[in-house]
Amino acid sequence: MAAPVAAPPRAAARDGDGDPPEPRRGSGAGPAGPAVPPAAPPAASRYAANIDDIRAAAARLAGHAHVTPVLTCSSIDKLAGRSLFFKCEVFQKGGAFKFRGAFNSVSLLSDEAARRGVATHSSGNHAAALALAAQLRGIPAHIVVPRDAPACKVDAARGYGGRVVLCDPTMAAREAACAEIVAATGATFVPPYDHGPVIAGQGTIALELLEQVPDLDAIVVPVSGGGMISGIALAAKSINPRCLVLAAEPRGANDAADAAASKARGERVCDAPKPETIADGLQARLGELTWPVIRDLVDEVITVSDDEIVDAMRLIMTRMKVVVEPSGAAGLAAALSPAFAASSPRAAAARRVGVILCGGNLDFDARRFWEGWAPAAL
Ligand SMILES: Cc1ncc(COP(=O)(O)O)c(C=O)c1O
Repeated sequence: MAAPVAAPPRAAARDGDGDPPEPRRGSGAGPAGPAVPPAAPPAASRYAANIDDIRAAAARLAGHAHVTPVLTCSSIDKLAGRSLFFKCEVFQKGGAFKFRGAFNSVSLLSDEAARRGVATHSSGNHAAALALAAQLRGIPAHIVVPRDAPACKVDAARGYGGRVVLCDPTMAAREAACAEIVAATGATFVPPYDHGPVIAGQGTIALELLEQVPDLDAIVVPVSGGGMISGIALAAKSINPRCLVLAAEPRGANDAADAAASKARGERVCDAPKPETIADGLQARLGELTWPVIRDLVDEVITVSDDEIVDAMRLIMTRMKVVVEPSGAAGLAAALSPAFAASSPRAAAARRVGVILCGGNLDFDARRFWEGWAPAAL
């Protein structure tokens, strides 16, 4: 059973009857933590967002977004061989971390721009998050959604008042449909990840997490377009440069991990195919703004298979009693994978590891998630 970590007064703690919280071991990398000199904090103007933008985003989000709880689970710790701290963005408004970036972006619009509404193209959680953020401000949200998007995510966007326009499932069709709407309505385009206010909003996850558990050796973050990991890396490296930031990326059946390939090459790989993976939220490519942050501040990319993702989902649901979607389980899949320990001596030495459970919008009607879901020998 999962247990909530004792949190500072403003942090939400989950009700429940789990094990008592883990005792704290003090701040900073302890004797068991990786012994490395701290890297220089990121320069203020180098990236699309900085720590001041992230703190400003946190002030805007206060009272509107949930401060999500951190849970621990001793039986999963045993499997991992380290202490894992699960930042439960599944409990964020809209069921995923995306509300943070969407709300921050909508808050920054002038009244005049806001009146014309917002627009985006998204196959999932950003669509619903932007619709919700727009609804809270009382403005229209035009959401272009590819026809193959999970039904639960399209329904959520509609449920929050989003004006959903379906399009063919290609990036070109999405962009064209969105551009047409923007031209016709004057709505402001809010990209899903490659946008300073979105990156800053997602960075508030790390502000909270490092307040709730200050002495982390590493944070594992699922990556797709890279908005979430960019924000988290900018915040975490600024607060605690010793804290490793590790990306979890699906390889897909077609070996399409562009973040891993980009890090290996030292340049953004733009021609990788769309990953064939059950992690429907992890199929985008790194952006122009997110790549420099990932290049400079993300320490490792750990690729995971769909089987590892499904095993991680099963563990989270059965041991922690938390519903998580495939993309949301990729971080645990990476933390449990042999690749984690093998990735670098610093990662192998990490004793206290934050894992972002970034989304819980599981499409229960998508039967392929459940077919052949044979339990691994855990
Ligand atoms: C649940 C979930 N996790 C992770 C991601 C990846 O976020 P990013 O594109 O910012 O890397 C997404 C993106 O839609 C998502 O929905």
